[in-house]
Amino acid sequence: MARRDPHSYADLDQGVVDHIHLDLYVNFSERSVHGGVRLQLREPAAGILDLDTRALRIGACRDGGGGEVAYEVGEPDRVLGSRLRLHLPQQTQAIEIDFQTTSGSTALDWLAPEQTAGRAAPYLYSQCQPHHARSVFPCQDTPAARFRYSAAVTVPGGLNAVMAAAPCGSFAGRVEGTRTFTFEMPQPVPSYLTALAVGRISALDLSSRVRIYAEPEVLDQAAWEFAGVERMVEVAEEIFGPYEWERFDMLVMPFSFPFGGMENPRLTFLTPTLLAGDRSLVNVVAHELAHSWTGNLVTNASMEDFWINEGFTVWAERRILEALEGEEYAALHAAIGRISLEEAFERFGAESPYTRLNTPLEGVDPDEVYSEIPYEKGFLLVRLMEQVAGRERWDGALRVYMDRYRFTSITSEELLGFLDRELPGLTEAAKAREWIYEPGLPDNAPAFTSPRLEAVRALAEGWKGGERPGRDDVAAWSPEEWQLYLKWLPQTIDLAGCRYLDETFGLSASGNSEILVSWLVLAVRSGYDPALEGTRRVLTTVGRQKFLRPLYQALLSREQYRPLAHELFASMRARYHTLSRVAVEDLLKEC
Ligand code: BES
Ligand code: ZN
Repeated sequence: MARRDPHSYADLDQGVVDHIHLDLYVNFSERSVHGGVRLQLREPAAGILDLDTRALRIGACRDGGGGEVAYEVGEPDRVLGSRLRLHLPQQTQAIEIDFQTTSGSTALDWLAPEQTAGRAAPYLYSQCQPHHARSVFPCQDTPAARFRYSAAVTVPGGLNAVMAAAPCGSFAGRVEGTRTFTFEMPQPVPSYLTALAVGRISALDLSSRVRIYAEPEVLDQAAWEFAGVERMVEVAEEIFGPYEWERFDMLVMPFSFPFGGMENPRLTFLTPTLLAGDRSLVNVVAHELAHSWTGNLVTNASMEDFWINEGFTVWAERRILEALEGEEYAALHAAIGRISLEEAFERFGAESPYTRLNTPLEGVDPDEVYSEIPYEKGFLLVRLMEQVAGRERWDGALRVYMDRYRFTSITSEELLGFLDRELPGLTEAAKAREWIYEPGLPDNAPAFTSPRLEAVRALAEGWKGGERPGRDDVAAWSPEEWQLYLKWLPQTIDLAGCRYLDETFGLSASGNSEILVSWLVLAVRSGYDPALEGTRRVLTTVGRQKFLRPLYQALLSREQYRPLAHELFASMRARYHTLSRVAVEDLLKEC
């Protein structure tokens, strides 16, 4: 098997790393992690072994017996980073590499105390998906490979370290004033699922297997918001089979975290923008939990088949929501998803290869083409196949799939082959190959309707004819209905309309970040100045890409707000996460 992941230098024919030990020292004053990694190969190997690195300083390299191993670090490639080529002596099974991260380590976000809830201590966290683990430690940074790992993380006294692994206790570090935390990850994971956070982090148990970690300032709020998560795990187990990761703990991140959630096994990372005060955004937890099956157990072999990871997970998320809240509720989420899918088609153009489910990505940075397509087009295909097969048969086949491919990584072709064996005729009936290999949306996409959905749509479509929602109309609306209403309104509305909505329903003061941002986007596009205060607040406190992009885009859509967009970005650029910074920079470049 030659190299097949366009985002990795790894060649699994040279050898497969199946255990890693990390010895990490976190230095906040230098903003650097230094230490060693011990890579254990499944079989003894000799000759060339290529690893991935990015912006790492590589020191000594030794084999298991302590003998020196020769190596070269290649020229950095914009997308792949630098190849670390080792020349292994005969019968090498263990390799130790000393290394140090640098300011170019894209996985690491170093925060000053002011960027945390407590404002009292610095904070460090990692975000390794999709191809950033290589900027923390040298590894075969492809989801096609999995390894077990252990770690010892030494941090300044007073701070805690957590990882997406089982915590195994802590002891005073060798250097005075430090503490060493140890971890063990017994299940094999791809590199993108390794994760670390260091800061003032405290914890509260929500059940015997669910614990919430957060800065002390937000811990109680988080514990309340996520009190229903144990029930969610039980419901998910009923649908997908036993939960394999023992614990489902969550870490509420500082505001700069660029995603809504990240499914790090045993320790899901969550944006603090989920703390709405009414448990209305827990679908993100359902999503990350669903990854425990779709993704963390069976993942895509490379980012070209990312939809296998995210499409199945959005489908699984909505099955969990349906079981907890009913079909109507899941349909509202599917409708919101459909709107973001349309927006993504607009961004790329329906004929773009990035609207295929299997996306050719040779030479392409996966972060630059990240979109809702694998999520929502993927969801529609999985949902379609469920409908065509019938739920019972589909769920049965899915259990076989999880069992057959557990702890492996697959391609679209392997998935199609499995479905053709297990549910003959299904992929033809659903036109699955057209869905996967052709751009755009096939004409057999499932549609979602419900009485509540249609009522909201009718009201929004009546806007142009002068229809305005009254307090009675919205009294029973869920946050999802609000989001749909705001998104279904025309792209811009008149100022009197803005004022009416804002003053009647207090939208600028909404505690639900999805409603708030949907509203601000509409209001800013419409030129409604009173929305600028809220926009400024979001853009200067929140780092979630999903909110930054549309808000900056809205500002840039109006001549008079462009200077504000540039000013806000200039003041925030050092504080945004690299991913968010790059995404916004791209938008600003055009205007
Ligand atoms: N795994 C993703 C986040 C991700 C994807 C990070 C690609 C880096 C590269 C996570 O599961 C996710 O999809 N999060 C969504 C939430 C969701 C409910 C769709 C998000 O962050 O918005
Ligand atoms: Zn996901």
